[in-house]
Amino acid sequence: MNKVLEFKDISRKFSLNNETLSILRKVNFSIHEKEKIALIGPSGAGKTSFLHIAGLLELPTSGEVYINNNLIDWNSDKILSQHRLNDIGFIFQFNNLLDDFNATENTAIPFILSGNSKKLSIEKAEFLLSEVGLEKRLKSYPNQLSGGEQQRVAIARSLINDPKIILADEPTGNLDNDSSIKVMNIFNNLVSKYGCSIIIATHDLEIANLQDRVISIEELNS
Ligand SMILES: Nc1ncnc2c1ncn2[C@@H]1O[C@H](COP(=O)(O)OP(=O)(O)O)[C@@H](O)[C@H]1O
Ligand SMILES: [Mg+2]
Repeated sequence: MNKVLEFKDISRKFSLNNETLSILRKVNFSIHEKEKIALIGPSGAGKTSFLHIAGLLELPTSGEVYINNNLIDWNSDKILSQHRLNDIGFIFQFNNLLDDFNATENTAIPFILSGNSKKLSIEKAEFLLSEVGLEKRLKSYPNQLSGGEQQRVAIARSLINDPKIILADEPTGNLDNDSSIKVMNIFNNLVSKYGCSIIIATHDLEIANLQDRVISIEELNS
């Protein structure tokens, strides 16, 4: 099966005063098309660092990242931003929707940025918002939506460029248990419907167990 994302011997170190923090140690990892993986580990284990490297937002200290079997060249900003825009969807714990744009606009923006017309982008955004059950909240601004609704907008937005993979960093970390499960069920169903892969960082085992595979940072580290 096709590997959507692969890490080869990825290490990530941080220097703090005179100490070196070795967060990821020669991590080898791959995720296949349509696979759903939960990445678990206690706070500080390196989940966010892992997702930032996978999302090409942060350079590893050493090692190689492959997307769709292509070795990533960290020197080419153009290629990095193309992958970020077209192959990868992101969802963060605090959804980072733009306050001054309504739900439809927030969802549409990445599609406009990849060169589509405003009209088509709005239509696609409205369709995806109805897929996450927000057809009645198309014009609502983030501060008019509940936490769970905001994360549903973030899910719609993450899907709009038909990414190969969605990276979700504790997407339900800010929600109560009932909303968490509801949001995750919507998310998992849509991901299956659209055939993308996901890596979801979470410390919630109930949510982790909804995925195909659960991997802990500790077991990845050499
Ligand atoms: N820019 C940075 N400089 C120094 N240390 C960092 C930096 N970013 C993260 N860390 C440290 O790396 C460790 C892993 O962080 P993180 O990836 O955010 O873990 P998690 O998401 O699992 O909580 C933590 O100890 C954190 O303090
Ligand atoms: Mg984190």
